[in-house]
Amino acid sequence: MSGLTLTARAVSDATTVRTQCAVVPVFSGEALQGAAKALDSAGGGSLSATLKLEDFSAKRGQSTLLPGAAKAQRILLVGCGKRGDFDRVAAREFARTVYSALNGTTAKDALVLLDDLSVHDATAEWLLETLARSLATGAYRYTETVSEPQPALTVSKVTVSSVLGKGPAQTALDAGAATASGINTARNLANLPANICTPSYLAQQARKLARGNSKLTVQVVDEKQMRELGMHSFLSVTAGTAEPARLIIMNYSGGRKSDKPYVLVGKGITFDSGGISIKPALKMDEMKFDMGGAASVLGTMTAVTEMALPLNVIGVIAAAENMPSGTATKPGDVVRSMSGKTIEILNTDAEGRLVLCDTLTYVERFKPEAVIDIATLTGACVVALGSHASGLYSNTDELADALLAAGTEAHDRAWRMPLWDDYTKQLQSNFADLGNIGSAGGGSVTAACFLSEFTKNYSWAHLDIAGTAWDAAPKWATGRPVGLLTRYLIDRAGK
Ligand code: BES
Ligand code: MN
Ligand code: ZN
Repeated sequence: MSGLTLTARAVSDATTVRTQCAVVPVFSGEALQGAAKALDSAGGGSLSATLKLEDFSAKRGQSTLLPGAAKAQRILLVGCGKRGDFDRVAAREFARTVYSALNGTTAKDALVLLDDLSVHDATAEWLLETLARSLATGAYRYTETVSEPQPALTVSKVTVSSVLGKGPAQTALDAGAATASGINTARNLANLPANICTPSYLAQQARKLARGNSKLTVQVVDEKQMRELGMHSFLSVTAGTAEPARLIIMNYSGGRKSDKPYVLVGKGITFDSGGISIKPALKMDEMKFDMGGAASVLGTMTAVTEMALPLNVIGVIAAAENMPSGTATKPGDVVRSMSGKTIEILNTDAEGRLVLCDTLTYVERFKPEAVIDIATLTGACVVALGSHASGLYSNTDELADALLAAGTEAHDRAWRMPLWDDYTKQLQSNFADLGNIGSAGGGSVTAACFLSEFTKNYSWAHLDIAGTAWDAAPKWATGRPVGLLTRYLIDRAGK
């Protein structure tokens, strides 16, 4: 999707490799070493001369382009700051700088020389994976509905040399590239407008992913089948729209038959107007991103299939549009969910939990190892955590810890929130078993508590990504939490 190929190669002498651009990390306040030193000698001291001028002092985030030396057409020096301070934060900045500096050249290929670069608090694998992910996500462009999209990255082949052997290095690059494919897939789906990205469109994309992959099968449940299944909570959300709802099931069997599947469930509200409890006009367009959870499920399935992980993973998308009309659900209506529990719909804008609760009941049939739902569920979560952390809720500590660790590792972090009975009490209704909104306060928690009423039969976690799925300015989907989910699944496959 990014059009970028990343290849590992052990380069013992940087002056022997033909490349349009040699990318050389440089630390500040020390003499040139390794590949930098070799290229400097081959180029008659041009690197050390540049450092002497002090325009480029190898500070973090700094880069400069020099004429070629030996078999390199050009040399890109990338500042890394002090060697003693080169940690994960610095390494992520290094990776971003490599991308933006390469984006400023017309080179078609590049050779990134990392042998001299080690990250204090991370492995060499982490560095390669991070670099690969950064380059391939940087290369993403939104093209579908604009006449003159941002020009594509000209670099299409990147070779990376590091202290790792070729095999492990390639595995790390592949993991980073696959994660990036997943992130880019999720971003693109979420960026698409709601008149293109409908529930049926999402179903088509799932089918497209399965094409030619014998390990992935797709099943799509339509409204008639949902009615037979008793999914009246789900159906209440789609009652007001002309756009048909879809429950999309992507079944990937990379593991043994007897391995229990990991199930991902994504909220796929392709547009959330609020329904009869209609939203204000300001920023209502952003509710095209209300399928960010669904996009992250399709994205993660993309990454999982690309890596052919030896696991069974089922991705499920609850797709519907939430609109007001003469046939729409009204505040005060009571519906019976698939679980048998009745729900008083006090606010038709609290629709995510209504499609999710039936979907969470539906997935019991898979006898899951764990179920993780991902949803742009509440504005309250944005108030609580802003845009840096997704809200994490879980009925199983081990699952919660594994997801938190994966989020840290992938720098796609989550923060655990409580699921206490005290909050569940806020959902009491006089006219049904549950109301779909809580009395005032803790809106992200009461939404999660609502879901927890439907997930008692398996290990479950919920990620509220309302604050993390897209950036407000500039307005773009982030592809989160594909990084977290993919890392979590890679870790499960390694066990
Ligand atoms: N999709 C929204 C949540 C949302 C709002 C995500 C803003 C990102 C930014 C969700 O369906 C919703 O409308 N939630 C309501 C719930 C309320 C009616 C209890 C909310 O958060 O206001
Ligand atoms: Mn809503
Ligand atoms: Zn919503």
